[in-house]
Amino acid sequence: MVAPSVLLCVAALFALSFISLSFFAREWDVRVNARALATGLLHSDAFPASTRQLLLQELQERRAKLLPDLTCSGEDRFAELRRRALVSRPAAAGGRRNCVDSATENTHSRQLECSELRRVHEAVLLGLGYTKAVFGAVLRNGLSVALKSVNAQGADMSACLRDLGDASACYELVSCKLSREIVLLQSLQHPNIIQLYGYCHPGKRGGGVMSALEQGSPLQMIQLLQTPWEERFRVCLGLVRLLDYLSTSPLGSVVLLDFQPRQFVLVSGELKLTDLDDASIGDPVCSTDADCVLHFPLRNFSIACSSEGICKGLNEKRNLYNSYRYFFTYLLPHRAPPALQYLIERIMNSTGELKGGINDTLEDFEELLHLYKSGLYLENLPSSIIKDYTVAKRTRAAGGKAYRCWPSYDHSGCVLSVHGAHEAALLCHSHRECACFTLGSRRTWTGRILASFTSSFDDLVPDVNSEVYVKKAGASDPAL
Ligand SMILES: Nc1ncnc2c1ncn2[C@@H]1O[C@H](COP(=O)(O)OP(=O)(O)OP(=O)(O)O)[C@@H](O)[C@H]1O
Ligand SMILES: *[C@@H]1O[C@H](CO)[C@@H](O)[C@H](O)[C@H]1NC(C)=O
Ligand SMILES: *[C@@H]1O[C@H](CO)[C@@H](O)[C@H](O)[C@H]1NC(C)=O
Ligand SMILES: *[C@@H]1O[C@H](CO)[C@@H](O)[C@H](O)[C@H]1NC(C)=O
Repeated sequence: MVAPSVLLCVAALFALSFISLSFFAREWDVRVNARALATGLLHSDAFPASTRQLLLQELQERRAKLLPDLTCSGEDRFAELRRRALVSRPAAAGGRRNCVDSATENTHSRQLECSELRRVHEAVLLGLGYTKAVFGAVLRNGLSVALKSVNAQGADMSACLRDLGDASACYELVSCKLSREIVLLQSLQHPNIIQLYGYCHPGKRGGGVMSALEQGSPLQMIQLLQTPWEERFRVCLGLVRLLDYLSTSPLGSVVLLDFQPRQFVLVSGELKLTDLDDASIGDPVCSTDADCVLHFPLRNFSIACSSEGICKGLNEKRNLYNSYRYFFTYLLPHRAPPALQYLIERIMNSTGELKGGINDTLEDFEELLHLYKSGLYLENLPSSIIKDYTVAKRTRAAGGKAYRCWPSYDHSGCVLSVHGAHEAALLCHSHRECACFTLGSRRTWTGRILASFTSSFDDLVPDVNSEVYVKKAGASDPAL
């Protein structure tokens, strides 16, 4: 049975959290409750003994899980986390991360104050997960941040309330996950991991745990499937680089237990891991080979239990196969440059069968990038094709008729990434509507040129950064 006062409290909590983020500023300090729980000061009339036992047990487990030797109680925990983060962090990298609560550590340009974060208004909802609520906001200094806090309506919180009925204890349990993520983000630094700008811990003036992160946009697989191959390759490459880092991170080998596209966001097209609360550190321990098995819906994999009693490399394998089944199969082969398909097939085979490790996969990806960037894959292009075009240097086509192609970088016309004029000419030849193309100064992330294709042009205007290629009358039509 849940006491009516608790229900009231929960209802009030939900209502408040709907109104604005400022609900974190309420006078409600989880530390008090944590301490009460830890020292067994719970009023026995508020909880039946069995529930209390369950609650204590759950708290103990969460604390043990946080990191092997970290407890999960208020100030002490954060003091310890901060100490560790400062120790493990190289001095040079420290400049980009601030501990937002501590004025003495706020010596860098990107100053964040918890008082400001907690009072952010006009925050927009970016995402709601089982555990966390994420709001986007622009701070006074112009910095766009994603603010993560406990999702009071989330499945984690609901399940806890259903089982235990104590709102503040549940809040602390769920907060542990967010704290754990903060610790991990402090120790793990990589271009494909979201940057932690700072965090707030339950303070004297109230408010729960909150992290301030680099802001991205949710990863939409369906949307991504409609983007050019180059952009999808970028996402896969980012993932492989991330997994390579995680396999030998400063904390040891890290596995993402809940591996889903929704754990990632995109920041200017670059994939970044944002949900780390389900990451686990260190390969599993084992006593027999049977302990080192990976179960997937369509495949099982097993490795040997090492003489030290560790499933060595199991974390890496699990990450790699998940990348194959959630990312590579959807994003990599589809519309890849034909000349690179052999390499892609090799990657698909090696990751789908877990034949190679992450280091081999990374090597294949970097080779793919090199071939694509350098245009080496175009070696067999007919060189005569460019002769069918008249080039006007230092000009840009004005007016003219755009046509659409797919997958274009520009939705109203036909804009494609090319290595140079040769490849653009080949594309123009293959488009029935194409009469002219322009190479401007816009580049993609690999440094390739964005070419714009049109079916006519009205005028050529001077532009030093651009050149126009016009198909000659009587040029051969595509023989395809
Ligand atoms: N830095 C960010 N920028 C933009 N959106 C973000 C950011 N971090 C998270 N989100 C969005 O918020 C959602 C929830 O965040 P997160 O995955 O951390 O919460 P969670 O409760 O652990 O989720 P899950 O239920 O998947 O475990 C994400 O799916 C993502 O779409
Ligand atoms: C994987 O292992 C489980 C448990 O041992 C077994 O039931 C299942 O059939 C196996 N799946 C495949 C695809 O081999
Ligand atoms: C990939 O595997 C398939 C089937 O096992 C095989 O036919 C193909 O030759 C392999 N490709 C490469 C590049 O290894
Ligand atoms: C990858 O690592 C394994 C051992 O960890 C090693 O045997 C293999 O040679 C490495 N491969 C490459 C391409 O570096």
